[in-house]
Amino acid sequence: MSSNKNAAHEPLAVILAAGEGTRMRSRHPKVLQKIAGRSMLGHVLAAVESAGIRRVAVVIAPDRDEVAADIRSVLPQAEVFLQHERRGTAHATLAARAAIEQGASQTIVLFGDTPFVSPDTLKSLRDAVIAGSDVVGVGFRAVDPTGYGRFIMKNGELVDIREHKDASDEERAITLCNGGLMAFGGNVILPILEAVGSSNAQSEFYLTDAPAIAHARGLKVSAIECPEQDVLGINDRAQLAAAEAIMQQRLRARVMRDGATLIAPEAVFLSFDTKVGRDVVIEPNVIIGPGVTIEDDVVVRAFSHLEGAHVSASAQVGPYARLRPGAKLGPKSRIGNFVEVKNAEIGAGAKANHLAYIGDASVGANSNIGAGVITCNYDGFNKTRTTIGEGAFVGTNSSLVAPVTIGDGAYIGSGSVITRDVPKDALAVGRGRQEMREGWAAAWRKRYAHLKKKDH
Ligand code: UD1
Ligand code: CA
Repeated sequence: MSSNKNAAHEPLAVILAAGEGTRMRSRHPKVLQKIAGRSMLGHVLAAVESAGIRRVAVVIAPDRDEVAADIRSVLPQAEVFLQHERRGTAHATLAARAAIEQGASQTIVLFGDTPFVSPDTLKSLRDAVIAGSDVVGVGFRAVDPTGYGRFIMKNGELVDIREHKDASDEERAITLCNGGLMAFGGNVILPILEAVGSSNAQSEFYLTDAPAIAHARGLKVSAIECPEQDVLGINDRAQLAAAEAIMQQRLRARVMRDGATLIAPEAVFLSFDTKVGRDVVIEPNVIIGPGVTIEDDVVVRAFSHLEGAHVSASAQVGPYARLRPGAKLGPKSRIGNFVEVKNAEIGAGAKANHLAYIGDASVGANSNIGAGVITCNYDGFNKTRTTIGEGAFVGTNSSLVAPVTIGDGAYIGSGSVITRDVPKDALAVGRGRQEMREGWAAAWRKRYAHLKKKDH
């Protein structure tokens, strides 16, 4: 970012994420709490990115390597700044001074704990600055305004924001609340923030003092309004759960718009990046974690759990299937009940219909994996691979001790423990040979009959 000579002509986003999040009662930073499989902060970064804002500064607390790593994974070009003492939102914004000093067409301050902020709201903020405002706040009509700052409006201008803790009863009756984000035009932000004091209930430097300071200096301060959901602030676990519910509703609507049938949408849980094709049917009680792509005409039956998996067209999954990271199902393949697939490719038309574990493996097209088959991929130290060719048949209850290769068209007898490679088209049986003694059972019963207690 520092090498960018055109910085002053581009918008800059400053995201505040150094708060303690005490109300969350967690050992982890609040902004890393997840919604639909992505951190709150990740959602904010994604919104900023899809609004086309390329210069991004994130303010975090010191010793928060977890947060820095999360930022890198979502938006590697974001620059991270540390707020060494937690002294309020204006103080936090100034921690990104080095980025702000480079100038910007608009500087937008966002919070890491308002994950629903939409690219539309960010655009409206920028538009308001372009239309001539120096400072723009985002207001919303709160169903319950408790805890939020209140917008004090005069002649259509935003003249002040009063924090809940500092507000009089009369001010608390105002329902137009502060969504938190704020935009600043040109280079007005630094002098305004430097003028912010800390004489308030919390002795903090509030960003919310900016409108009054700007107004007193004769600058134009305006407010835009957005839906409450877009600026929902997440401070505790109840709000986190409510946010999850809203996000799930949005994601379900999205996959249905894309052409998937959810028989009971409220009982399907998706992730921020779930991709679903057309004519896919997802039955109730399915959980889809991050990194899942489902192609057209797939059926995911009830009680299945998928994460990091790719399911190709016309495959069938479940009921009660588990696809773990690296599972890649080929077209028309079938993974049935109580089958777990991890880091394994299942070829086109291949089947594992009941009670199996396929891990660190590849299964060729049209092979059949019987009930109870286990790939023994772990010896306590190393993970090794099992390779099964095309059109092979692995009989029920067999253990394939990796590393091992089973050739195309090979046949494994039921109950085998396979430790050596099996050539193409061969039969392999690795189990104790069956013994038979005619009449043995009858003789045994006769010999012990007198020992049997009457009441048993
Ligand atoms: C803030 C607003 C309030 C608004 C509400 C909307 C202020 C003073 N108040 O209140 O008007 O209605 O958001 O959700 O701005 N942060 C830091 N460093 C700090 C303090 C905070 O980085 O020293 C970050 C937090 O991580 C958080 C954001 O700033 O992401 C907001 O802080 P928070 O304490 O949650 O403010 P609220 O009390 O919710
Ligand atoms: Ca908050």
